[in-house]
Amino acid sequence: MSAIYNIAVIPGDGTGPEVVAEGIKVLKSASAKFGFNLEFTTFDFGGERYLKTGETLPDSAVEEFRKFHSIYLGAIGHPDVKPGILETGILLKIRFALDQYINLRPVKLYPNVDTPLKDKGPEDIDFVVIRENTGGIYTGHGGATRVGTQDEIATQLMVYDRRTVDRCLKYAFELKKMRNAKEPKYADKPITLIHKRNVLTHCGDLWYRAFEEMGAKHYPEIKRDYNHIDAANMWFVKNPEWFDVAVTENLFGDIITDLGAMIQGGLGVASGGNINPEGVSMFEPMGGSAPKYKGRNVINPMAAIGAAMMMLDALGESKASQSIEKTMISVMQKMKSQAAGKMGYSTTEIGDLVADNLK
Ligand code: IPM
Ligand code: MN
Repeated sequence: MSAIYNIAVIPGDGTGPEVVAEGIKVLKSASAKFGFNLEFTTFDFGGERYLKTGETLPDSAVEEFRKFHSIYLGAIGHPDVKPGILETGILLKIRFALDQYINLRPVKLYPNVDTPLKDKGPEDIDFVVIRENTGGIYTGHGGATRVGTQDEIATQLMVYDRRTVDRCLKYAFELKKMRNAKEPKYADKPITLIHKRNVLTHCGDLWYRAFEEMGAKHYPEIKRDYNHIDAANMWFVKNPEWFDVAVTENLFGDIITDLGAMIQGGLGVASGGNINPEGVSMFEPMGGSAPKYKGRNVINPMAAIGAAMMMLDALGESKASQSIEKTMISVMQKMKSQAAGKMGYSTTEIGDLVADNLK
C-alpha cells in the first residue's frame, strides 16, 4: 500500500495563497508520479481572519496540527494588522507549541539565478544554516516597567539551556555528517558555529563549549570552525564558499538567513523548514505576504515550490524531492529573472512548468 500523508495547509495572507496553490500543484503531480498520496486540509488562519474575528490561532488548532504529517505555510502578515500580533500569535505560536526547534535554511544559488555577489556562482554558494528556532530572545523573557515615562526600562533576555543547545547542535552535526558522506567537496569544509562569544560571554560560552564537546566526542572526523556573528556577515558576502553547515542561535539566525536569502537570489527562491525531527514540521517560502503583488499572478512561486520539495524530503520521499529540485533548476534556466513581475512567466505558468515536467 502506498503511503498517505496528511498535510495541513495555511495559505495565509497576501500572495501566500497564490504561491501555495502552485506548490500544491507540484506536490500533486509528484505524488502521482512517485506513487504516494497526499491529503490536504486548508486552514484560514492569517490577517483577514484576525481582522474579522479577533482570533489569531486558537489552542484547539494547535492540537489539530499535531495529527498531521506536516504543515505547509504560505505567508503571515497583513498591512492593517499591527506588527507582532500575527507573528507571535500564529507563526511563533506554532513553532513553540509544536517544538519546531530547528529552522533549516538552505542557501543554494541555482544556475541562471542572479546573485548580488560579484564573481560568485553556484559552486560558491551552497550551504545550509541551522538556526535554533525556539530559544533565545524569542522566548519573551523580560518585560517593561514605567512604560511611557522617561524612566522606562525594557528587557528581553537571551535565554538558553544546555538541552536546547545540544539538540540543535546534534541536528547540525548529523546534517553535516550526511553532507560529508554525500559529496567530498562538502567534507573539506567545516561546520561553523556562529555566535558572539567575545561579548555574550555566558550564552556564547555555553554554545561554544557544547559545540566543542559534542564535536570532539561524537564527530571527531568533522572539521569545526567558529565565527563571531558580525564577522560571519562579512564572510557570507566575501567568501560564501567557506561555508557548508553553519549553526547559530535564534536571533542571529533570523538575521543572517535573510542575508543568505539575498545571496542565493532573493526572497523569490528562498525556502525554509521549521523542523521538529521527532514531531510535526512546517515548511514555508521565506518571502513575506508581499501585499502589493497580491492577486496579480506575478509573484515567484519557486520558494513555495522549494518548501514543498523540502517537505517531501523530510517525509522520506527523497526521489520525489530530488525530482522537484531538478525540475526547478531546469525551469529557472528558462526564467528571465527570479523577481516578481520580471520572470518572463506568470505565477501559474511557473507552477505548470514545474508540475508538468517532473524529471
Ligand atoms: C522568520 C521571520 C519571523 C522570525 C517573524 C515573522 C516572526 O522573520 O521566519 O525569519 O523572526 O523568526
Ligand atoms: Mn526573519
